[in-house]
Parts: sequence; C-alpha cells; structure tokens
Amino acid sequence: MSAHDEELRYTLPVYAQLPFEPVEGRGAWLFDAEGRKVLDLYGGHAVAVLGYDHPALIQAVTAQLGRLPFQSNAIAMDVRAEAARRLVDFAPDALTHAFFVNSGAEANENALRLACLVTGRKRIVAVSHAFHGRTAAAGAVTWGSHKRWYAFPDTPFDVHFVKRDDVDAARAAFDDNTAAVIVEPVQGVAGAYDLSTEFLRALAQGASESGALFVADEVQSGIGRSGLPFAIQHAGVTPDLVTAAKSLGGGIPCGAVLTTAAVAAECRKGDLGTTFGGGPLAAAAISAVLQTIEDAALMDNAREREAQVRVQCVTGPVTAVQGRGLLLGLRCKPPAAQVRDALLERGILTGTSGDPHVLRLLPPLTIVERDIHFLASRLAELPAEID
Ligand SMILES: Cc1ncc(COP(=O)(O)O)c(C=O)c1O
Repeated sequence: MSAHDEELRYTLPVYAQLPFEPVEGRGAWLFDAEGRKVLDLYGGHAVAVLGYDHPALIQAVTAQLGRLPFQSNAIAMDVRAEAARRLVDFAPDALTHAFFVNSGAEANENALRLACLVTGRKRIVAVSHAFHGRTAAAGAVTWGSHKRWYAFPDTPFDVHFVKRDDVDAARAAFDDNTAAVIVEPVQGVAGAYDLSTEFLRALAQGASESGALFVADEVQSGIGRSGLPFAIQHAGVTPDLVTAAKSLGGGIPCGAVLTTAAVAAECRKGDLGTTFGGGPLAAAAISAVLQTIEDAALMDNAREREAQVRVQCVTGPVTAVQGRGLLLGLRCKPPAAQVRDALLERGILTGTSGDPHVLRLLPPLTIVERDIHFLASRLAELPAEID
C-alpha cells in the first residue's frame, strides 16, 4: 500500500495530496524511496526555512533532546529564555516580549485574545482574502471561512472585513468598540499578494487613533522570508502584536506572539497558557533558526533570489511575479494547478493558492542561484497555455 492509500485509510480524508512521497530531504531537495529527486520550492508551506538537513538545527535539537526534552512553563529554563531573547532581538525594537505557542492559528488566537483583554473591546477589523488559521478566533477573521470549515455557531467577537487595498474603507473601519485590526502584510494563502504601503499605514493610523491594536500576522511572511525580519517593516508600520510560526522552528512545531512593553504590562498570571508552547525542543530550534538566518545572511539571499525570480521566471506560462522576498506568487495564464503538476513531473515542487492563477513559492531561504535557474529553465519548457 502506498503512503497515500494508507493515510487515506487511517486518517480523516481532509487533505488533497500530490503524487510524490519523499522519505528523505537534503538541503532544498527531497528524495523518494526510489531515489527520485525533487527541488522543494514550497518548503512544506514555508516551514523548512533552513532546508531539510541543516547541521545547526539538527545539532541544537538533538543536543536538547539528549539533555532535557521537556519541562513545562511552570519551570524556568535557559533554553527558553535564550529563544525569547533572540526572538525579541530579531524583531523591531518596539516588540519587547514574547509568548510561545505551538502553531500559527494558536498565535493569532492569543494575539486577538490579548487585544480584547487589553482594550476591553469586542470588535475586530480584518481584511478581505485573508487567511489566519482554522481555530475559532483565527477562523472568524479568515475571509470566506464561514462558508467552509468555520462550523461553530458564532464567532467569538464581531468581525468587520475591509476590502483589501481600499484605503478609504481602512480609514472608516474603526470605532470605539474596535479591539484590533489583524492583517497579513503579504497575504500568503491568497497568492503572495503584497498589500500596499498606503493601505497598511491607513489601517495602522485608524487603529492608533481609535485606541485599537495593530496585529501583523507574520506566520507565513515573517522570520526573514520577506528580506527583513518581518514583512510589516517594509511599510514602516510598528505593530502592537506580531504572530509567527511556520519558519520559526524550521520544522519543529512552534509559534509565538510578540508584543510591546505596554501590552505586557497589562498581563497577569493565568491570562494565557499552554503546555507545549516554549518547550525546550522548540526553543532550541528557534534559537538555531534565528542565529543561522543572521550568520548566513539569509535575508540578503531572500532579496537576491527574489530579484532573480523577477528577472528570469516570467517565461512559459508565467506572466507576472507578485509578493516579497521568498514569499512569491507566479501569475500564470493557465490554471496554477496545471503548472504545479507539470513542474512536479519535471522535478520541482511548488504550491497553488487561493487565486486559481497564482502559483506559490515558499522555498527554504537557503536556496541558491542555480535552483532559480533550474525553475526558470523548466518553466521555459512549458507552453504559455497548457491543455
Ligand atoms: C498567514 C497565516 N496565518 C495563520 C496560519 C495558520 O497556521 P497553522 O496552520 O500553523 O495553524 C497560516 C497557515 O497557513 C497562515 O498562512
């Protein structure tokens, strides 16, 4: 039985799966049991930030596994303290405190909870086409989720959606009951759609004037992927809360909420909590990831590889490139799913998105010049229209 058939037999049938079953990863390359090799430009949904066998990550996690694999947040640990310090140092200066969790949805859930707690308000502003996760609060601010898997009877707060990039709507969105606005500076699932600076600044201004908090969801765009530590920095906006996950642990499940000293001052013991968040294996991974991004100048690499994609990859079925750094959308004339399938047959893994004509690239930040050449050459082999 293939892994696909066995998973289908023993797990819930909720995932569409691609016809490739890797058993090993080396750098940005995946290998199946027969030795077939595929360049992974999707990075496991932006998770494999250092590729699949980075010695710094392996060493940090295995050493911690051998030393002390787990203790809860009731016990202070050097490894957690170091991860928090490194994450705060990596982030913009105004973000001075971290709260560790286990996933992107949980990070957003807690950021929104903090916003309601600190402001005492009940209304959240969100943006059309946004994706923030599948838990109750994260689902409530995800565009269109009520039609699909947001199956709870009520949202935990009132939600007001603003049309993306509509600056006037952004200005008018806030009232004196608004606790927060939540926004992905580059909308990932929507197809690496980079929101305009003007729009992001209008949301930030509206939030600040009405006493609401600005939450940047950087689960997909953060941790250096945009070419800066967090994508919101490109707009010159200082958020009150930032959420991170995916790349944060390089493959070890984890997430984090970053916030300001002002928000931290409002928190009391018991306000938030989690068993596994900030566990020592995740903490060791976070420190290794952040240190490697800085030591290996991976944010510079993200910007250089982005520039290369923009020059070389508008070829074959691709008509334009959108996004930032290594969160990129290739706009395709044919449906993106057809281009993804044709590329996989030619040894490259990519992803689709909420936009049926946008193919998504979320590769490891360690990819090199020849990887983009390989993509460009494979795209050039494809016709502008695929039957
Ligand atoms: C921007 C954004 N926020 C939140 C999430 C949810 O993260 P998770 O799947 O870790 O819960 C995702 C996942 O794709 C995401 O892209």
